[in-house]
Amino acid sequence: MSVKHLFATPIYFAPLCPKKSWASLGKRLLKDAYRIEAMDEEGSDWSELQYPGGYTSYSSIPDLHERSTDFIALRKLIDKHVYRFVRALEYNVDPRTLQMNSSWINITRRGGHHSMHLHPQSVISGTIYLATPKNSGNLKFEDPRLSKFMAAPARKENAKLINQTFVEFEPRAGHVVLFESWLRHEVEPNLTANNRVSLSFNYSNF
Ligand code: NI
Repeated sequence: MSVKHLFATPIYFAPLCPKKSWASLGKRLLKDAYRIEAMDEEGSDWSELQYPGGYTSYSSIPDLHERSTDFIALRKLIDKHVYRFVRALEYNVDPRTLQMNSSWINITRRGGHHSMHLHPQSVISGTIYLATPKNSGNLKFEDPRLSKFMAAPARKENAKLINQTFVEFEPRAGHVVLFESWLRHEVEPNLTANNRVSLSFNYSNF
């Protein structure tokens, strides 16, 4: 084959931990998410304006991973995945220098979504899913070269994954997704009456 694919955009997707340990940790974290929403007036006010159709602790409690036992345990589990991802990316740094510097809960209700964005000032970003009813919103990534395509024709509808301009991931409870923070992504609208619950986070080494 004479065609080589260069400049890869890796996405990491894996179960956070063995199913058995997730069953109890996942349940506790989900309960915590609703408990935090109930007490976080500042975050609820902010979400009403900035996060229609949902709640996020993004602006009000950015350090959950330092606050409670379960979230500290969760961070330690996510650390291992981030180190693995960093090794796959072949960054010339010690993976352990990357640390979670913010984390926040997202509860998305019917119609709630999060439009295209990236995470400035971070190296690796990601999400761990706590509740993912079917059709509650896929995670959609955009080809980072899109703004440079100029006269490039659109790709075939059934083009291989590697040639698609947008790629969607169906979230799965207990799974962690990781990507480089500069990669633009969005969360599609929740089309169901059931809540989609997740915890997102950023890692950096500065
Ligand atoms: Ni994001």
